[in-house]
Amino acid sequence: MSWRGLLDGLDVRLGWREARARAAAELARPQPARAGWGVALGGAALGVLGLEALSGLVLAAHYRASPESAHASVAAIRDTVPLGWLWLSVHAWGTHALVALALLQAAKVFISGAHKRPRELTWVAGALVLFAVLGLAVTGHLLPWTNEAFWSTSVRLGHVESAPLAGPAAARLLRGGDDVGAATLSRFYILHVAVLPALLAALLALHLRLVRRLGLAPGVPADEEAARGHAACSEGGAAWLPQLALRAAAGAAVAVAALLTVAALHPPGPAAAAGGPTPAGLRPEWFFLALFQFLKLAPARVAGLPGESVAQLVPLLAVAAFALLPFLDRSPARRLSARKLSLAVVAACVFAWGALTVLGAVSDRELRLFGKTRAFDTYGRPR
Ligand code: HEM
Repeated sequence: MSWRGLLDGLDVRLGWREARARAAAELARPQPARAGWGVALGGAALGVLGLEALSGLVLAAHYRASPESAHASVAAIRDTVPLGWLWLSVHAWGTHALVALALLQAAKVFISGAHKRPRELTWVAGALVLFAVLGLAVTGHLLPWTNEAFWSTSVRLGHVESAPLAGPAAARLLRGGDDVGAATLSRFYILHVAVLPALLAALLALHLRLVRRLGLAPGVPADEEAARGHAACSEGGAAWLPQLALRAAAGAAVAVAALLTVAALHPPGPAAAAGGPTPAGLRPEWFFLALFQFLKLAPARVAGLPGESVAQLVPLLAVAAFALLPFLDRSPARRLSARKLSLAVVAACVFAWGALTVLGAVSDRELRLFGKTRAFDTYGRPR
């Protein structure tokens, strides 16, 4: 059978030519003139995600998921696999970059009002992508089986255990027993290399499908856009192909180059294997510091209930509000000057998050600040 015959046969069965023509028409539709270079941020996040997937594949080929060999296999990747130290470093730094880029993406979208009707589900899918990335960060942290990772995972699962309702069952399921051990490591490994990547890929495909179908948000009020129909919302700017796709690719290239540079200059050093005492000053990654500090502030009991369980409702509600923001922030206005209330509420939340992050970073620590050594207590207050 000729090549053409093969493609015709597949087309009869799959209808791929029609699907391709539809995608090409969507990509050729002019996007709003204001789209500009903003798309470079989404492109940067995609680029970093691609590098995370690639480095993850290389690491998975050499990693052994058991308490006896996990730590040694990571040491072997760093010391004996060609460029293994760089892949390890890229994968570790990439997590921080990806979370930061996803948060910046959410901030950009909120500021431009692009989460409003009809793009509510694009936002929800984006938020779920971010949650999947955070899940990958938590599960991946345990895999090198270092003493620090062992104890931070024990603390994290302790928090899960005290969560209201399904907390104890979820903690048992994740831990695979009463303590962090071999079962926890294999469960986290499966989540990290199979379950969460599959979920992330599906959510990202949905996110990008919605971006392509609805087009980028124009600078018109959401009501007017809805009345015109999403397909007619273009305002005569550049099309996805080739202009905006090239800008997104430029964003990806800059992000990948920056990540490679940082990873090459600051590779993580060796760390002690699990089995030692709880390390002093244990604290999570910067993106969980606010949560860590907030839970520390919880009183022992609230209205006769365990304080931490009650306190956990606040971050749970905050996370739900973030994911469902377009359904809470419903005014059709897109311009920031016409959205003072939602801007004030979001700014207050961002301030609280930032303040808790700073307190979480300095609490229970001695730091040299402005030429003086200062000690901070558990609540982040100078002693
Ligand atoms: C790894 C995470 C993410 C990736 C790879 C990603 C990727 C993209 C890409 C490539 C675009 C189109 C270009 C652009 O506007 O930048 C886009 C648009 C969009 N993203 Fe994301 N995104 C991510 C996270 C998020 C998050 C966390 C949110 C919000 C919670 C979000 C909400 C949106 C929305 C609403 C749009 C449409 C913007 C418009 O119409 O102007 N994304 N995303």
